[in-house]
Amino acid sequence: MAVGDAPRTPRRAAAPLRTAAWRGLRREIERCERCPLAGTRTHAVVYRGGERPTVVWIGEAPGRAEDLAGRPFVGASGRRLDRAIADLGLGPEEFGIVNLVKCRPPANRLPRASVVACRPYLERQLHLLDPRFVITLGRHALSELVPGAGPITRVAGCELVWNGRPLVPLLHPAAILHNPVLAPRWADDLRRLGRVLDRVLRQTL
Ligand code: URA
Repeated sequence: MAVGDAPRTPRRAAAPLRTAAWRGLRREIERCERCPLAGTRTHAVVYRGGERPTVVWIGEAPGRAEDLAGRPFVGASGRRLDRAIADLGLGPEEFGIVNLVKCRPPANRLPRASVVACRPYLERQLHLLDPRFVITLGRHALSELVPGAGPITRVAGCELVWNGRPLVPLLHPAAILHNPVLAPRWADDLRRLGRVLDRVLRQTL
């Protein structure tokens, strides 16, 4: 059974994105000045996805396209990610996407100070979204969520645990774009992820 065919969770009370808590958090992030990236951003990048996502993807930080659009993963990496999401059978309301860092870092570096400054925002997002399944993209998101998990190249595609729920780390889609040799590994990890998703989304009903 494809993930898109799997029966879904019973509805929870309020859709997280419609709550005052989420709207307040969004406003805080948009006005944030906790790190120097505030001075160079066009937009803070908060979230893209459904109002009540079952699965949350966690990336690293916005790039140029995301900074301009104010939405995560809308550039080249985003196109690859969207293809993967469609292949997994996840509908537009079933997933959400966030980043560790909400503002675009210069020169594609991920400043540690910004990861630390943004961490409480990520935690509040995950608390409010309360996903049943988490997928990290790249080594930084993995090491923030599951410190000590081991190298991303070893654990990508494996089922781990975050806060009592399944987490599957993947390579970052940008890595596949920069290094096409990794494409078969990406495809393989997605197949493994699809099997775990199918099992978890069916079994917890
Ligand atoms: N890469 C990321 O990690 N996040 C984005 O939003 C875009 C590219």
